[in-house]
Amino acid sequence: MGSHGKGASRVDTVVTDVAAGHVAIGTRMPRRLRHARSIEDLRVLARRRLPRAVFEFFDGGAEDESTLRDNRAAFERWRLVPRMMVGVGTVDTATEIAGSRANWPIVIAPTGAPGFAWPRADIAIARAAATFGIPYTLSSSATCSLEDVAREAAGAPWFQPYILRDRPFFARLIDRAEVAGYQTLVLTVDMPTGGKRERDFRNDFGVPFHWTARNVCDFASRPAWAMQLIRNGVPRLENLIGLDRSGPDISGAASSVGRNYDPDFDWRGFEAIRKRWPRTLLVKGILHPDDAHRAVELGAQGIIVSNHGGRQLDGAIASLDALPAIVAAVGDRVPVIVDSGVRRGSDIVKARALGATAVMIGRATLYGAAAGGAAGAQRALEILTEEIVRTMRLCGMRSLDDLGRGWLVRQDAQPPGAAMAAGEGSEA
Ligand SMILES: Cc1cc2nc3c(=O)[nH]c(=O)nc-3n(C[C@H](O)[C@H](O)[C@H](O)COP(=O)(O)O)c2cc1C
Repeated sequence: MGSHGKGASRVDTVVTDVAAGHVAIGTRMPRRLRHARSIEDLRVLARRRLPRAVFEFFDGGAEDESTLRDNRAAFERWRLVPRMMVGVGTVDTATEIAGSRANWPIVIAPTGAPGFAWPRADIAIARAAATFGIPYTLSSSATCSLEDVAREAAGAPWFQPYILRDRPFFARLIDRAEVAGYQTLVLTVDMPTGGKRERDFRNDFGVPFHWTARNVCDFASRPAWAMQLIRNGVPRLENLIGLDRSGPDISGAASSVGRNYDPDFDWRGFEAIRKRWPRTLLVKGILHPDDAHRAVELGAQGIIVSNHGGRQLDGAIASLDALPAIVAAVGDRVPVIVDSGVRRGSDIVKARALGATAVMIGRATLYGAAAGGAAGAQRALEILTEEIVRTMRLCGMRSLDDLGRGWLVRQDAQPPGAAMAAGEGSEA
């Protein structure tokens, strides 16, 4: 598995087309997808196609969903301060992420059970990621086996194991990832137990899964989706086969209880994994700078600042708000990636300006895949990348390397030069 992208790149050819509003890649894209102009448009298409329980499993967050909402609000709290007459005919969006060159500062986040969005959505999204020259992260709760994804998805996917109570099973999982050629392991550490996702309970999409009148009616209300599921077989959590007696079926999808996760996992456990995994190791789910610092001291080669898209601890700090302190703590030593709430190219530009190397996106490509499989995932990436370029041009940014805090002000703060304008003295 090689590195991503085409090396130090100016991606103006693709970018110019995309920015002009044309679909640069994937000419056989259905009309409804071509007409989706935003990630929210894809979300609406996904909602129309999926049964309620499945849509809400993808879309929802924990408890009152306050962290889910705050993840979006955190991006809104920052405003861009554009500069003019810079000459932005060519913009450079390439970046290095954990040792690989990527065409965009985006990584696909690991998401469980994507096969309920579309058959083999894992591979569809991974291929879309490879087309755009960005890394894809396969979840251990994926619906395709890690070997199939390594074989069938182009590019160099990353692998994310959850820390399981069944330690021998967990050890075998990461050994399998090594044998299959994965270069990067993303260790998710924010799941000592599952978050309380109440929508799943209300929709009878919980653990253990039981067929009920409610979920039978719900699934039957989306015949096209149900037929596709029947034709292709009910997705299974292929990497977790043999993990527990109930089997890797739909019950594993709605992980509200999280009975397989290891609540005793601690820093000693982390050190053991660091010793076992010989390649790049990133840690996902960090929100405190001291944890970031300790993880790096113990050998983490990158930190993913994440509250799991608001699906774990409700009331947790928005990931974007946690980012600056973590960048200050470890950003000079390792890449810092941030996720949770990214829905616009301008969000990605803001995250870069706050010191992130890249963002991870979870629901954005899931909505796309749910709306239209591979073409939908591709459309999600077209939308986001087009928005990045447009934002950079409108801001007068030639390269992502130019980005820093000078491009941003807090929504409630005074804009640059305001003190001088108010006669409060010179800024010199
Ligand atoms: C349906 C769904 C399933 C997820 N499954 C996993 C998973 O298996 N492993 C993991 O580390 N994170 C998982 N996450 C969290 C994502 O990796 C990521 O942190 C989150 O989706 C980012 O927020 P966003 O969806 O707003 O982009 C999941 C998220 C969603 C929406």
